[in-house]
Amino acid sequence: MRDKIVAGNWKMNKNMEETEALLAEVSAKLPDTDAKVMVSPTFVNLASAVNQLESSSIEVIAQNMHFAESGAYTGEISADMLLNIGINTVILGHSERRAYFGETDEILKKKVKAALAKKMTVMFCFGEELNDRKSGNHFKVVESQLKNALFGLDAKSWSSIILAYEPVWAIGTGETASPEQAQEMHAFIRKTIATAFTKNIADNVSILYGGSVKPSNAEEIFSKPDVDGGLIGGAALVADDFIAIVKAI
Ligand code: G3P
Repeated sequence: MRDKIVAGNWKMNKNMEETEALLAEVSAKLPDTDAKVMVSPTFVNLASAVNQLESSSIEVIAQNMHFAESGAYTGEISADMLLNIGINTVILGHSERRAYFGETDEILKKKVKAALAKKMTVMFCFGEELNDRKSGNHFKVVESQLKNALFGLDAKSWSSIILAYEPVWAIGTGETASPEQAQEMHAFIRKTIATAFTKNIADNVSILYGGSVKPSNAEEIFSKPDVDGGLIGGAALVADDFIAIVKAI
């Protein structure tokens, strides 16, 4: 049985006081749920967030990491540094990392390998651009992003992978993919993994949808058989919205 997951990617938002306040409100309002709930503040607030939520079921996760063990990589953070403060899950491959920071499939393959080598869980993001979808290439693009970064993994590594399909044209735009579009792509992703690996692996990997998930659309998107939850951006920064989305899973 695969996990249901709602994760908040806070991106570059909230200072320490704002982080503390939002986490206090989210944890106070968190409903009973079988879903895994995760939040991802910025690096500088991760340690305090882990401490603040130590008795909560909410997991604090990182938005990125470097693939090197340590060294002359100014501004970067290693897997060990994250593990050292109690972070065990890391988001990799977000479209903003790919677009603004030049993260290629090759770099992401190294980051995934480095995180798994440290027994971390990887939440791997991927998704097509609008022109890919308009030209009917969206399945090909998604398949290549998956293959280039993940298909060198051995079978057992898949138990440490969470997939997050985030059509770039839906991120931050209010242009949410329809539940049918999300289901169609998630089913394709699951089939692609089943073909490359096994049906068992494909059936057990959680595939999240990300891209303008809101309280108004979450329930319908999450109701689709191959949608196992969401990776939430803007709505995660408002406690009541994030809680409403958790309630929808
Ligand atoms: O990683 C999640 C994020 O990219 C989605 O952002 O604001 O469209 O929910 P948003």
